[in-house]
Amino acid sequence: MENEAVTRAALDYQGILEQVAADVAPQIGGGRPAEYIPALASVDPRRFGMAVADIDGQVHGVGDWREPFSAQSITKVFTLALTLARGGEELWAHVGREPSGNPFNSLVQLEQEQGIPRNPFINAGALVVTDHLQGLTGDASSELLEFLREESGNPGLAFDQEVAESEAAHGDRNAALAHFMAAYGNMRNPVPTVLHHYFWQCSITLSCADLATAGLFLARHGVRADSSRLLTLSEAKRINAVMLTCGTYDAAGDFAYRVGLPGKSGVGGGIIAVIPGLCTLAVWSPGLDSRGNSVAGVAALDRFTTLTGLSVF
Ligand code: DON
Repeated sequence: MENEAVTRAALDYQGILEQVAADVAPQIGGGRPAEYIPALASVDPRRFGMAVADIDGQVHGVGDWREPFSAQSITKVFTLALTLARGGEELWAHVGREPSGNPFNSLVQLEQEQGIPRNPFINAGALVVTDHLQGLTGDASSELLEFLREESGNPGLAFDQEVAESEAAHGDRNAALAHFMAAYGNMRNPVPTVLHHYFWQCSITLSCADLATAGLFLARHGVRADSSRLLTLSEAKRINAVMLTCGTYDAAGDFAYRVGLPGKSGVGGGIIAVIPGLCTLAVWSPGLDSRGNSVAGVAALDRFTTLTGLSVF
């Protein structure tokens, strides 16, 4: 089947997922779980799950696809979507949309670029987005959690207090980024408020099934689970474009080269990827590479698009 584009009608998602899982088995357990947040360091790196949700909401999965994991930076896609939906284009005066080529928690570009982060998916940019969402809603992390519950259809989604507190206790770098931006006038709310919502947003726990389903609005060009429109066609296109160019940090070029899809990773080992008009993919395996992306997760997405011929290219 490799390299032969399949027709959409003939897609056997379950069979494809099972083949992907078998093919990437040697890579499962590779890499290391995030160690800078102690609550994440203890997760077994041999876990692996993958799910596909098609635009009609049907979900298929393999391995640990129903097992909850820490969403971490994947939430940055959802806060961006909610902020654009409520606040519109004004956000782009406060955060750029160029790949950073730097680690996700890097400080160096911020000074050269006067406190305007390169993009919404590095930590500095995500802090700006959360700041704006806080201004628009008064409770950014709860707004996000409620949205994820509604879109995933899982009212049991929750924050993980241990992860949030562990992150806050080890959050000096994020605090430095937020204070630095505040010094440039690029924080609207008090820094401790923004950090609080950012840490809690990162702590949300969900499964591959939840994540693939919750992200379907990106495959549906901005349309939510209840058929209402969250984003304009342009906004949905733009979020997918920024995921493609910036969603995996200083590995975004390699991710685009291997996978060919908009994607967003998190240090919990999850990745969401979108095939616009068709489906959303979610994969989880906690072993990370040096850039903070799941080793088996990237391999599985690479295998999925190679086997099926499905990508945005
Ligand atoms: O800000 C942090 O350090 C984490 N809570 C989130 C980082 C993250 O997931 C980056 N992703 N690869």
